[in-house]
Amino acid sequence: LELPNQYLVLPGLVDVHVHFRDFDLSYKEDAISGTQAALAGGYTAVGEMPNTRPPIKTVELLRRKIEEFGKKTNLHIRHYFGAPQDPSLLKDALNNGAYAVGEVFPEEVLEYGGDQYLESLFREAARVGIPVIMHCEDPIIINQYSGPRGFEYHNAIRGPRAELACVHNVIRLVYRYGTKVHITHITLPQSISMIRLSGLDITFDVTPHHMLLSQEECLARAEKPAYCKVNPPLRDETTRRELLAMFVRGEVPIVASDHAPHADWEKDKPYDEAPPGIVGLETTAPLLLTLWRRGFVDLGTVMRAIQERPAKFLGLNVGIKQGSCADLTIINTKARHRIEPEKFRSKAKYSPFKGFEVDVAVVATILHGKLAYISEGHIDDATRKLLESSLPH
Ligand code: DOR
Repeated sequence: LELPNQYLVLPGLVDVHVHFRDFDLSYKEDAISGTQAALAGGYTAVGEMPNTRPPIKTVELLRRKIEEFGKKTNLHIRHYFGAPQDPSLLKDALNNGAYAVGEVFPEEVLEYGGDQYLESLFREAARVGIPVIMHCEDPIIINQYSGPRGFEYHNAIRGPRAELACVHNVIRLVYRYGTKVHITHITLPQSISMIRLSGLDITFDVTPHHMLLSQEECLARAEKPAYCKVNPPLRDETTRRELLAMFVRGEVPIVASDHAPHADWEKDKPYDEAPPGIVGLETTAPLLLTLWRRGFVDLGTVMRAIQERPAKFLGLNVGIKQGSCADLTIINTKARHRIEPEKFRSKAKYSPFKGFEVDVAVVATILHGKLAYISEGHIDDATRKLLESSLPH
């Protein structure tokens, strides 16, 4: 296949943290719309979070979810298990297809017994050999906060000291039990330094929104304040810049979108009542690859963060394979345009990145050797015809 040279063929992208919702929350997103959003964003594999309704905390529900998703999508998916109140469930979960324990939320930790619960979860996960994906926000601080609600409340309970306290605790637990841990959506350069200094094999990811948007800038630009509400909250400008600088230097191993769709009417609510979450599957690759096109970062650094290392973390052989089963993403590197959330395939058609100018567009995604997505714009007719005629779909 010979494409004009502004097109680049990349191995299929991989996101370790997405929410496809489904079941009772399918009004926000489901396995089908989530898959379409992934493909439109160049992703061929994802790690899917268990905070559906009902949450995936029993082996029966896990099996049901894997079966239902299997009927709706052929994306490469790793399913995470919800943190169970009784950690002895982990073995059964692992044997029934859970890839990791995902979504260990501070609220859950509190409800299940705080530090003692975490000790038993980490001990059991290490014994069974299942990884734990931590959301690093310290639950204790939730109990201590009694100030006003709104921005202050959100930032206080999930502020920098909450993250630092949690990272510190995770290091202690991994040192003690040897659990395989991945800390998701790290927001502070200091957390990254702590993990590095610990010398332990703790992996982590950072989101594009924490690297590219400060809370202040987001609120100044976004149509609705709730579009900026996310857990953990966006940080200040100095922190954001330092985090981005670390990514540019190759010190951020994995970038994950934390694609967290909600209905527009939910995001219409005032900040303190709206659910947290930013959708990211359709913006991550264009945003990060634009940083490359504009000379801020190497292509290798971007691809290691959104393809190579996440694929390794998920134990997936996604990318260029022999014969007909390749998973590939084709981008147009000369496609300057503005991000238009109205065109997202996700059910959530809003984004704090609305109007951001990017230089790169995902134009086609090949899944299991078949043309699974081709974009409406940003591709010339001859290339479109060539792809459509030469690839099975
Ligand atoms: O903002 C967030 N939303 N962060 C999370 O960790 C969960 C997610 C959700 O499920 O909406």
